[in-house]
Order: sequence, then C-alpha cells, then structure tokens
Amino acid sequence: MIDQTSFQAASRGVGGGLFIAFEGGDGAGKSTQAQLLGQWLAEGGHEVVHTREPGGTILGKALRELVLHGEDGSVTPRAEALIFAADRGHHVATVVRPALERGAVVLTDRYLDSSVAYQGAARDLGHEEIRTLSMWAVQGLLPQLTVLLDVTSQQGRTRRGEVHDRLERETDTFHDRVRQGFLDLAAREPDRYLVLDASAPLEELAAAVRARVGGLLPSGSLS
Ligand code: TYD
Repeated sequence: MIDQTSFQAASRGVGGGLFIAFEGGDGAGKSTQAQLLGQWLAEGGHEVVHTREPGGTILGKALRELVLHGEDGSVTPRAEALIFAADRGHHVATVVRPALERGAVVLTDRYLDSSVAYQGAARDLGHEEIRTLSMWAVQGLLPQLTVLLDVTSQQGRTRRGEVHDRLERETDTFHDRVRQGFLDLAAREPDRYLVLDASAPLEELAAAVRARVGGLLPSGSLS
C-alpha cells in the first residue's frame, strides 16, 4: 500500500498528489509518453488521472471545438488566449485540484506552457502577459514536473501527418517560435523541467521520464 501523502514531502504538491504536464509542439508524441508513464504508475498502485487541455471537461470540449475547429482567422489572438485560459481555469478547478487533493497522480497533455509558447511567443502576445493570465485562471497551480518533448517544426509536420486543426495549419515559422517559447520556459526553471529530444526512440524517452518521475515518488513506492 502506497502512502500517497508522502508525495507532498517528496515534491511539495497540492494536497497529497503529484502533478505532471507533458508539453511540446504538435506531433511531439506527448500523448504516447503520458500513456506509457501512466501505465507504469498504475502498475505501481498509484491512482492516475489522464487529462488534457484544451478539452479535459465538458465545458472544455465546447471551448476546444470553438478555438480549434473554426476557419482561419475566425478567432482573434486575444480571444484565443482567453479561451485557452478559460478552459484551463475550469479544468484545474474541477478535475486537477480535486484529483491532487485525494492523492492522485495527474498527467496532463498540455498546460500553461502551451499558452505561453503558442499565444505568448508565436502569436506575440507577450510571455509575461499570457503567463499572468493563466496563473490567475489556475490560482497559481504549477506542475511539480513538466516534461518537454522538443520537436523541430519539420519533424512535427512529418510526424503529425494530416493537418487537423487551426493551430496545426500555421507555418513552420510559427511552429519554430512555439518551440523556442517552450525552450525559453525550460531554461528559466531547469529544476522543474525534463527536456527530451522527441526524435529519440519511444522506449528511450519513456525510460528517461520514468527515471525522473521515480525521484518524485515516495521512496520504495515503485521499483
Ligand atoms: P492538442 O490537443 O495537443 O492537439 P491534438 O490532440 O489535436 O493533436 O492541442 C491542440 C492545439 O491547441 C495545439 O495546436 C496547441 C494548441 N494550444 C494552444 O495554442 N494554447 C494552449 O494553451 C493549449 C493548451 C493548446
């Protein structure tokens, strides 16, 4: 039986839980890595909550549809930033915090860094302004660890194959700015990030993630 409360001592989390975000450009392979980590944690007896932004709630699904599936130019950059922040605020209040408070491990596919990289850096709305907006929305909640799967714009385009949404349709220059936005965030707080080259083999990436997350778990809870 794992003592879930010891996450707090191990990693200074909210409640007894552990909050981990997966970030990176489109086509980086975040969802796959989140799934692999989640399986490992679940096998070790942890309650794992997989979630995503945008769209981790009922309200979020409607916001996701509005912000991603309109025509090009259908959402202005500031409206786009506010919609992602609204999705995030609701997601944290109704899914993430309650799970952390009961001691779960929450794995989110994208979080606040995506807004800083896409809206702050690539849309040029300002790193600090976008970060402040999201921090207000989530009442200051940051992940104990952010796994950044670093992908170049060309790699991302090849890996995601068919174009899916309004953001993915943006130019390589836009995606280069997204990438730089993520790397700048990681450089500011190296202790809270694990930056990996997304082009490395799947299992190699998964092992690196496990090694880092293992250090955040109560000792002896997973081998
Ligand atoms: P994602 O769900 O990862 O894409 P998919 O599942 O369709 O592959 O992300 C959707 C898009 O939204 C992605 O292009 C990144 C963008 N996005 C932002 O621009 N800002 C944000 O704050 C978030 C969370 C996502």
